[in-house]
Amino acid sequence: MQVETRKAHVSTPKLLPSHNTASSPLIFATSSVRRKISPVPPPSYWKQSSVNSECTLHQLSPYIGKLKSSIARDLIINYSKPGELVIDPFSGSGTVPLEAAILGRNLFAADISPYSKILTKAKIFPPPGPDDALKLAEKVLKQAEKLPEPDLKEVPEWVRRFFHPETLKDALRFASICRRNGCEFLMACFLGILHHQRPGFLSYPSSHLVPYLRDKKYPPHKFPELYDYRPLRPRLLAKIKRAYRRKDDFSSSSGWEFRQSKIENLTFPDTFDCLITSPPYMNTLDYGRDNRLRLWFIDPSEARPTDNPVTRKKKAFHRAIACMAKKVEKHLKKNGYCILIVGERVNRSNTEHLSKDICRIMSEKAPSLRLLSIIEDEIPDIRRTRKNCLATKTEHILIFKRLENA
Ligand SMILES: C[S@@+](CC[C@H](N)C(=O)[O-])C[C@H]1O[C@@H](n2cnc3c(N)ncnc32)[C@H](O)[C@@H]1O
Repeated sequence: MQVETRKAHVSTPKLLPSHNTASSPLIFATSSVRRKISPVPPPSYWKQSSVNSECTLHQLSPYIGKLKSSIARDLIINYSKPGELVIDPFSGSGTVPLEAAILGRNLFAADISPYSKILTKAKIFPPPGPDDALKLAEKVLKQAEKLPEPDLKEVPEWVRRFFHPETLKDALRFASICRRNGCEFLMACFLGILHHQRPGFLSYPSSHLVPYLRDKKYPPHKFPELYDYRPLRPRLLAKIKRAYRRKDDFSSSSGWEFRQSKIENLTFPDTFDCLITSPPYMNTLDYGRDNRLRLWFIDPSEARPTDNPVTRKKKAFHRAIACMAKKVEKHLKKNGYCILIVGERVNRSNTEHLSKDICRIMSEKAPSLRLLSIIEDEIPDIRRTRKNCLATKTEHILIFKRLENA
């Protein structure tokens, strides 16, 4: 198979703005140093889509609140050096870990979500090349064919509604082998084709990011072909080929690690050089509900896999950030950076600036760090999940540095 392979670590650092040139009215202050810092705008190229230039492993499967890979890349290039340890305790779909891998950094990632575990591990530990991945897929498909026929009565009705019964049987058998063997890469490819309205996907016509059936727009009597059996094999193999279409050249290291853990229970590495992470959005995204179909295939025995107050209750969110800040204070190397990408919640009457809360918590719990600058980025519509909801419209990128003499 033809693959466009790119050499790693060749990108030129593009300096991010660090002086206050924006006319943004927002002023932030950290209480311990009493400095007020105005946000600056991001470089204009951050607005460009990276879909046609990024490593295609980034596109294994969608994830709500996913960071743009070009932003992750710039932050890693500007705030860490090759060989240094970059960590992301809210790894999500693994954007920061994958870019860190491509850029020759060491990495450590964690997240509470089992979906994040599959995506992050699939991206940082993929089979070396497309032929290896296709061979593995053929092996697992053969094992799956030998399994006894699944009893669809054991599948909840809300899951059955998405699939032709024969497609569902293929899907159930394949997912159970992936779970048994810990095949994160194949599972990620499978989850990436689970639901959509296009023919390369497994479900009846449905949305891609968050699972909703589109049977009103595509009623079965008008579009019967969209309700036919969709065999898994050709779709999975095509998905694997797409995943390797533009693969950056990196070799996974046995020292890289992903831990499925909530931040409160997470043991950070003894020392690290740089933390780059986007903490969960407050009140705008619900990772459990919005990933429900994928989470069901990851573990059908979990009724509500990520019922997590951090995304709903401000107190729980503050506790989680305080926990992270204390660990950063203890383990971040001197002169190391801590970069937090914070989604701001906006509604009709007011904007709650979580960054303000985060700055206050950081100054209390991580007093040896200084806030150097804030980049204010507008999130384009395409990255919001639902229309007419309390949307996250801007994100602030807070850049902290641990001082030499702290
Ligand atoms: C904004 S997303 C991260 C997105 C990621 N940067 C990406 O590009 O895909 C925030 C993540 O925080 C995770 N999360 C929520 N509460 C958590 C907690 N208490 N501990 C650890 N992770 C948590 C969610 O599962 C979600 O993946």
